[in-house]
Amino acid sequence: MGQIIFIPREIDGGEPRVAASPDTAKRLVALGFDVVVEAGAGLASRITDEEFVKAGATVGKATDAGRADLVLKVRRPTDAELKRYKAGAAVIAIMDPYGNGAAVATMAKAGVTAFAMEFMPRISRAQVMDVLSSQANLAGYQAVVDAAAEYDRALPMMMTAAGTVPAAKVFIMGVGVAGLQAIATARRMGAVVTATDVRPAAKEQVASLGAKFLAVEDDEFKAAETAGGYAKEMSKEYQAKQAALTAEHIAKQDIVITTALIPGRPAPKLVLAAMVASMKPGSVIVDLAVERGGNVEGAEAGKVVTTANGVKIVGHLNVPGRVAASASLLYAKNLYAFVETMVDKASKSLAVNRDDELVKATMLTDGGKVVHPTFVKALEPHVEPAAIPASSMVADAAETQVKTATAKKPGKSKGTA
Ligand code: NAI
Repeated sequence: MGQIIFIPREIDGGEPRVAASPDTAKRLVALGFDVVVEAGAGLASRITDEEFVKAGATVGKATDAGRADLVLKVRRPTDAELKRYKAGAAVIAIMDPYGNGAAVATMAKAGVTAFAMEFMPRISRAQVMDVLSSQANLAGYQAVVDAAAEYDRALPMMMTAAGTVPAAKVFIMGVGVAGLQAIATARRMGAVVTATDVRPAAKEQVASLGAKFLAVEDDEFKAAETAGGYAKEMSKEYQAKQAALTAEHIAKQDIVITTALIPGRPAPKLVLAAMVASMKPGSVIVDLAVERGGNVEGAEAGKVVTTANGVKIVGHLNVPGRVAASASLLYAKNLYAFVETMVDKASKSLAVNRDDELVKATMLTDGGKVVHPTFVKALEPHVEPAAIPASSMVADAAETQVKTATAKKPGKSKGTA
């Protein structure tokens, strides 16, 4: 009998995605694993139990998690789920660890080896494992679909015998993966699209998609991109200049879609209340950053708010989950690609190489301890994990990384996770 991989039905009612597809289940079986899928796990993503069975998996119960050597999930396991896992089991998910130091500590205590998919390094070998990209791409698309649905005019220009409907003006703020897809989608729907970002690399990408770029291009802008390709948090001065530049532009837009994020930090506030108030009644703002504090003043997580001047602010949660059937297929493939790198093909079992850079970057807990440099700090004596803001964890990360590198190297055991 092979080692067991368990795929649960996600506990959170708002999570329709699932961590395996019939395709990845089949591939995992081919690697030599027994794949057990909790009954109904795929239903909200339109995957039936029968399809998983056809792929070679068996259908089980939530308690089968206790037999698993590896659990594949969408979201971080809850305390109740962790209690079921056997010590030493590996669990891979989108762990959302920033600001959740206590939950990371709980996973360590449960003795599981936990991997955070969102920490996958952006190197070519790991592109196929990049869950931030696969999910953000769909979120960017869905944001435009949601905006169009809330907007009570047409997006494309229509010249008809009865008159002309002007094209909608769409402004995308933040053009990473989600923003670029939003530009492409809005363009396909016939809108006139402009976009802004703080990274210089974004300028050319925006132009190549046929949209116009707008940004404060000072020295800070020229240095805003980190080695990982992410944005830095901009200074107060830059943010003020940025607000002055965009305020006038936003007043003329029909639809604004914001996607701006800075890893491990609260989302920057880009659309202030006065800018919302300057928009025409019937305009729509979609805040894709709402789960991370929001880019838009007045946005509410999980709600569509209509302001006093008739502007709708859309703050849907889990936007990739709104296209769950597509999101699950891509997410499952991301997970499979990572798992495949951790399998010893000869013994057909998990063999986590703790020296692999993908493992080092994503492993949060191992052998009863928090091992990720960013979160180790949260567990030091006299420090209450819950009391540490996400921001200071990140600020400390570099320092901690240096410390752990010089102090002790993590265990080199190569055996089963
Ligand atoms: P993200 O989700 O962290 O942030 C979204 C966007 O918001 C970014 O473009 C960021 O620059 C922007 N932003 C931050 N603060 C802002 C502000 N004050 N005003 C306006 N915009 C602001 O970023 P995402 O989507 O993860 O992409 C980051 C970069 O990584 C992109 O260049 C993307 O193309 C690149 N990338 C590289 C990959 C690879 O090499 N394997 C894979 C995926 C993305």
